Amino acid sequence: MARRPFFAANWKMFKTIGEAVAWGRTFRELTRDVADRDLVAAAPYTALASLAAEVKGSNVGVAAQDVYFEKEGAFTGAVSALMIKDAGAAYAIVGHSERRRIFGDTDASVNRKTHVAIANGIIPIVCIGETLEEREANQTFDVLDRQIKAGLDGITGEQVAALVIAYEPVWAIGTGRNATPQQAGDAHAHIRSRIRQWFGGDAADAVRILYGGSVKPDNVAELRAQPDVDGALVGGASLDPASFFAIASRG
Ligand code: 13P
Repeated sequence: MARRPFFAANWKMFKTIGEAVAWGRTFRELTRDVADRDLVAAAPYTALASLAAEVKGSNVGVAAQDVYFEKEGAFTGAVSALMIKDAGAAYAIVGHSERRRIFGDTDASVNRKTHVAIANGIIPIVCIGETLEEREANQTFDVLDRQIKAGLDGITGEQVAALVIAYEPVWAIGTGRNATPQQAGDAHAHIRSRIRQWFGGDAADAVRILYGGSVKPDNVAELRAQPDVDGALVGGASLDPASFFAIASRG
């Protein structure tokens, strides 16, 4: 069965509540007749509830950009899965390379966050990807293997089938230097083959694998032409709703 395409906007640390709501209003209008793909916007925590209220009843879903793995307690600054769900998020990005590099997320914490998201009915968008140094040292597949194995440790095949993986080569994020379709296609094929090996054929056939890193309206089609690229996770080019709509409809 064909996998349903999936396009997610990752706004990162951009947009006030008012800006988020305005984006949601424009985007829901633009996508009113789009029913054949999943469309998601990952907003800052502060804008989740307002954005969710704005896009309620539309084809647009809401994601948090992270989630903490503890249920509740003395964890100043952290936000739980229950809290983001309560705010209207159906998805959470987990293990984005910026969280790993700047905020100290590890494969182990990514794994705990993935578990807690699933346990709370939140669909995790699990990010993996190699640095430039790792690619140049021919370690790309080793890094992906480690991130998949550790990040999805203890997750069942059935749960893997329902989650989303984002392959984001770190050297392509925010640099304007996107992976070639061949590079993306090779990485995605590798990821799906490992999912098949470790979680079974049903999981491999169902899991959506997104490409992320300098995706733009004019390069999304060639990336999506790769058989294992099921959609995109878009940073900079998602901040403008018309630009993200162009990506989601051309891809
Ligand atoms: P850019 O699209 O700005 O390169 O960011 C990609 C990304 O990190 C999405 O999560």
